[in-house]
Amino acid sequence: MKIYVWGTGCGAGDLLDTALLPEQVTAFVDEEGVLKHFLNRPVISPGELAQGDYDLILVTVRDADGVQRRCRELGIDENTLFFLKNDAVLMSRSRAWDAARAVLGDAYLDERRGQERLIRRPLWTERENLPEPELKGDYVRLKTLEMLCGEIEGIPGSAAELGVFRGGFAESINRLLPERKLYLFDSFEGFAAEEGAEKGAGFLQAHRNTVEEKVFARMPHPERIVLRKGFFPATAAELEEEKFALVSLDVDLEESTLAGLRFFLPRLSSGGYLLLHDYYSPNLPGVKRALRRYEEESGIRLHRFPVCDINGTLVISV
Ligand SMILES: C[S@@+](CC[C@H](N)C(=O)[O-])C[C@H]1O[C@@H](n2cnc3c(N)ncnc32)[C@H](O)[C@@H]1O
Repeated sequence: MKIYVWGTGCGAGDLLDTALLPEQVTAFVDEEGVLKHFLNRPVISPGELAQGDYDLILVTVRDADGVQRRCRELGIDENTLFFLKNDAVLMSRSRAWDAARAVLGDAYLDERRGQERLIRRPLWTERENLPEPELKGDYVRLKTLEMLCGEIEGIPGSAAELGVFRGGFAESINRLLPERKLYLFDSFEGFAAEEGAEKGAGFLQAHRNTVEEKVFARMPHPERIVLRKGFFPATAAELEEEKFALVSLDVDLEESTLAGLRFFLPRLSSGGYLLLHDYYSPNLPGVKRALRRYEEESGIRLHRFPVCDINGTLVISV
């Protein structure tokens, strides 16, 4: 069976770490064209996929609408599509159930179906009215960000994101806060080797799949961006006097999250917010551990506001 995996991001990494071997994959499919190989398998464009033979296309990107549109444009047979990173409505759009069951097994598919119970977007019928990032991304996360950006009006300090990846969330911060300086901290080469040692190869490689020039180019107000490339906290050198009104902390693993809390929380203005992404994610327990360690060592019990976005953000104020 010729199996293709659409996407070379976290969804693909997760699939390959848990349910599929790289040698089962004929190729990965990606529009971006950044990588030539992912987990030692070739990466091809959707156009190249359309020219070849395929039996099952496992879609691991969230923009399933876009994938379906692209398949229609290129004449790719939609009966071979199976959506893995989606919500209730999209899961039922998948047509290749039998092939997916044969390859991935019932247990894996049952687990994915359990996640359908999360309502990830507003009512599907309303979706045409949403702006592009909210339509394609995490609606609750982005709407919360928009409201918090309104709340920090008049609060002094810059904005920052630690853990930028391809800049999806950073772009929204920059658009919503056009007057604020926005620090972007990322290694742009994934996780520090010693910290990532416990994670699977797919997870690690997926996070290396970014280039800072592309991130910079997508920013609506690039004049406000200060890009700090490299491993945090070394990249925060000489920012000791800086104050922050809004911080997005999204580095997945325990030690880097703790380093972020240690740096940003003492510099968070009163009335400002820190968004700790993945706090409730069962796959990333180090985020919760890092916050617990920070509270223990500082003796501060923080003000916590849970958000029911996809991975469960914790909003923190001081
Ligand atoms: C989950 S991704 C960020 C996603 C992004 N916030 C978004 O919502 O689109 C995590 C990022 O953290 C970065 N990262 C992890 N540990 C880091 C560290 N110690 N220093 C710099 N970057 C780090 C990785 O390179 C990766 O790009």
